[in-house]
Amino acid sequence: MGNKTLLITGGAGFIGSHVVRLFVNKYPDYNIINLDKLTYAGNLQNLTDIEKNTNYTFVKGDITDGDFIQKLFQQYQFDGVIHLAAESHVDRSISNPMEFVYTNIIGTVTLLNAARSLWKDNTDGKRFYHISTDEVYGSLGEEGFFTEETAYDPRSPYSASKASSDHLVRAYFHTFGLPVVVSNCSNNYGPNHFPEKLIPLMINNIMTNKPLPVYGEGKNVRDWLYVVDHARAIDIIFHKGVNGETYNIGGYNEWKNIDLVHLLCKIMDKKLGRTPGTSAQLITYVKDRAGHDLRYAIDSTKLTAELGWKPSLQFEEGLEKTVDWYLANESWLKNITSGDYLKYYEQQYHNR
Ligand code: NAD
Ligand code: TYD
Repeated sequence: MGNKTLLITGGAGFIGSHVVRLFVNKYPDYNIINLDKLTYAGNLQNLTDIEKNTNYTFVKGDITDGDFIQKLFQQYQFDGVIHLAAESHVDRSISNPMEFVYTNIIGTVTLLNAARSLWKDNTDGKRFYHISTDEVYGSLGEEGFFTEETAYDPRSPYSASKASSDHLVRAYFHTFGLPVVVSNCSNNYGPNHFPEKLIPLMINNIMTNKPLPVYGEGKNVRDWLYVVDHARAIDIIFHKGVNGETYNIGGYNEWKNIDLVHLLCKIMDKKLGRTPGTSAQLITYVKDRAGHDLRYAIDSTKLTAELGWKPSLQFEEGLEKTVDWYLANESWLKNITSGDYLKYYEQQYHNR
């Protein structure tokens, strides 16, 4: 593959940390720069296994800071950008939409501008890869799938901010010839997932015997993909995808929330040596999320047919691996839930 200097944004987060790990280990000749603001969702503990590798550098910074970003691009002369940094939680976007506008929209344009000015004379071998979500397509009824041609119809401030950033990325391709590629992925799960999202929240609450809050009637459907399979897709699309194209990534693995929570309870009863049915007693139906999308389901035929990707894990296997990871990494969970790690970062980086 030769030498390349790559910027990965949001590499201390859930998906970003898996992407950083894959690239650092698989491409020893690449110079990988992980830029992350370390918000509540960013955690360098996700990367302790690779943090000393000579092809890896962590930089703390904010993608909305234009001067800083321009200087960073000048300093490192990036050949490629894999952009994952974002505010990512729908519930937080309902209580505080502005953070989503700043980071997801303004942050993305700030990066696009820096790439455009760095690569203005020569775009050969350069690539700006924007990571997005299936939520931009809106909500499905009982039938059908999202394809790359599905019209955008975002319903939450989160998905609207991601949709906006996707449009801007494509506009830079058409208007300025910036070499871009976009992918839209379904819900991820796996190790290092922040315990505000459904699966890790349920695992944490089952472990600690807290109520399991199921929104509405628990009938909403999500299409779940193991995070390492998403990282593998990102690797393939970054290297083989066609500029200007969009690729949908999904697991053909649809679950009603309530069925998924029951499956988790069953797995965890077994792992924790509880009598079958014990954890399910914690299930509590709570007020539905405002504007709650009913169903997401991705058609990833294009990615499979054109670039040869397919998911590697069956869901039950992936879920069990995930539960095992949380049980073996209780200190990771405790650190996050106690807020200790945020205090640590504040001290560590307070001069920046
Ligand atoms: P995450 O919330 O776990 O991580 C986001 C990371 O971005 C954190 O490390 C955070 O510190 C960093 N960040 C936030 N604001 C920043 C800023 N202003 N400057 C620099 N860094 C900043 O998110 P995730 O679940 O890993 O999602 C990563 C990307 O993948 C997002 O773009 C998201 O929209 C997309 N995506 C997520 C899913 C999913 O199921 N989680 C599915 C499809 C697409
Ligand atoms: P989430 O993990 O927040 O992902 P997204 O909203 O981006 O799909 O939620 C997944 C599904 O689980 C969604 O339908 C909302 C539901 N949910 C609950 O029922 N209870 C919860 O505590 C959470 C966080 C989510």
